[in-house]
This record gives sequence, C-alpha cells and structure tokens, in this order.
Amino acid sequence: MARVIKIVALSGSLRKASFHTGLIRYAIELSKSVIDGIQIEYIDLSNLPMLNTDLEKEGTFPAEVEAFRHKILEADSVLFASPEYNYSVSAPLKNAIDWASRPPNVWAGKPAAIVSVGGAFGGGKAQHHLRQIGVFLDIHFINKPEFYLDVFKHPDKCNDDGDLVDEEIKNRLKKVIVSLKEFTLKLQGRN
Ligand SMILES: Cc1cc2nc3c(=O)[nH]c(=O)nc-3n(C[C@H](O)[C@H](O)[C@H](O)COP(=O)(O)O)c2cc1C
Repeated sequence: MARVIKIVALSGSLRKASFHTGLIRYAIELSKSVIDGIQIEYIDLSNLPMLNTDLEKEGTFPAEVEAFRHKILEADSVLFASPEYNYSVSAPLKNAIDWASRPPNVWAGKPAAIVSVGGAFGGGKAQHHLRQIGVFLDIHFINKPEFYLDVFKHPDKCNDDGDLVDEEIKNRLKKVIVSLKEFTLKLQGRN
C-alpha cells in the first residue's frame, strides 16, 4: 500500500476565530474522509519565541523551535494559510519561516501550497511575497489552482468561529489539497 503523505499546515493568524485556521480545519476534515492517502497536521505557531539567534546554542535551538523544525523536516509537504498584513506575510508566519530556515534549512525541497483570505485581493499580495521568500528557501509551490478569498466582499463564506461554510469555496480548497498531494507524489517520483 502507498505510504500516506504527511502534510503540515501552518496558519499565520493567531486569533481564535481566524479564517485561515478555519481553512486548515476544513482541509483536515477533507484528509479524514474525502481525500485518500494524506494526513494533515495543524501546527500552532503561537508558542514559538521571536527569532533571536542568541537563543541558539552550538547548533541547538529552544525546545519549541526544535520541535517545530523537526515537524517541518519530517513532513512531505506544507500547507501555508497565510494572512496578508500590510501587503505582506504576517509576523507569526515569517517568524516561523525564519526559525526553520536556520542552518540546516529544513524547508529545502518541500512541496507547498498557499491559501489566503483577506480584503480586495483575498491576500494575494502576501501570497506573492511568500513565493518570493520560498525562492531562497527552495520551497516548491504549486501554481494551480490559486486560492484567494475576499471575505470583506463575501463575509458569508465563513462564520463567526472562522469556519468555512460555503460549498463552492470548500470545493476550491479541496482542489488545492488534491493538487498538493499530486505534486508531492510527482516530486517524490511516486507517480
Ligand atoms: C495588521 C493587519 C494588517 C492587515 N493588512 C491587510 C492587507 O494588507 N490586505 C488585506 O487584504 N487584509 C489586511 N488585513 C485584514 C486581514 O486580511 C483580515 O483581518 C483577515 O481576516 C486576517 O485573517 P484571520 O481571519 O485568519 O485572522 C490586515 C489585518 C491586520 C490585523
């Protein structure tokens, strides 16, 4: 039987009713009952200290950072739910990305997908910044399908708890996860 693909999912928003964390909750639901051959683990970024290289001691990191880096290293691929803060990636997500980039860079070679919810461009400008960051870190993002959700214009797509409640958008998210699965298999030479 084919090995299950391990996807780790990061939300760049720490708020309880985050729409981004809501997207991840729905992706996890899909992995349990709709899309075969994948498992998705949500990684909470709220306990990571702010990056400070003084906290590194002879190649070791604070315990929370070590645990986070290990999860990225062990993952087959990554789902970034990336809010747009002032046209760029949020501070919690950038902090996590930077910790995992410290030598050895544990992002290297990982397939990844980005989804976002925001204002006019649905977080699109932050997605493009994240892609730019991924060039140096050697992250391989899927290009299609793209997933941007303008929740300012369409507030009914998510509820007050941050859950995705719209069937058409759920289907779009499903296509992103399927694409990430297929791209991961391709990069690993398994299809
Ligand atoms: C500091 C800050 C800056 C923001 N800047 C942008 C922005 O540049 N573009 C945008 O579309 N939305 C922006 N927003 C709105 C967020 O997209 C919106 O709050 C979104 O719901 C955040 O995701 P969350 O629901 O997962 O917390 C900003 C929000 C905050 C808190």
